[in-house]
Amino acid sequence: MFGKNGEAMKNNIFLIGFMGAGKSSVAHVLHRRYGKRLIEMDEQIEKQEGRKISEIFASDGEAYFRGLETALLRALEGERDVVVSCGGGVPLRSCNVEAMRESGCIVYLAARPETIYERVRDSHNRPLLEGNMSVSYIRTLMEKRLPAYLAAADVTIETDGKSMGTIAAEIVRAIAQ
Ligand code: S3P
Repeated sequence: MFGKNGEAMKNNIFLIGFMGAGKSSVAHVLHRRYGKRLIEMDEQIEKQEGRKISEIFASDGEAYFRGLETALLRALEGERDVVVSCGGGVPLRSCNVEAMRESGCIVYLAARPETIYERVRDSHNRPLLEGNMSVSYIRTLMEKRLPAYLAAADVTIETDGKSMGTIAAEIVRAIAQ
């Protein structure tokens, strides 16, 4: 898709936010309902590496994983009309934020720590929460990350108590404005 002056339109959507904020579910709705091509960063990295995120963290460490995230975002720079469900740590690196801003709109899905806890409590593929599964730990890590999330966001959507469909519709409306 091209704009008035022939330049490629920056119409990708990057969903950012804490683990369990609903990025992946909302991305699926944007894919099904609005025809965006779907890219799930965690899934893509697992496919590329042939192992789970938890195994990557355990064998090679977090810094290695962060390098894979940055490399993937760079590889996506030429893509158009995609919705990208980002890993929760992606906006912590400014080069990642620049790469996202280059090709689209960054949408922060905000959720209360209690909501996050309910969503992630039974999952075991999030190394940062393994052994730290509590509302208070989630709140502390969220508060630490909040400035980065807010600084990266073009749009913030409060998600507590809303259906994935409502959140997706709010995103489409906000971006159109
Ligand atoms: C992480 C979030 C995870 C995954 C990894 C690290 C983070 O993705 O990328 O476990 O640092 O917040 P989700 O946000 O999709 O759970």
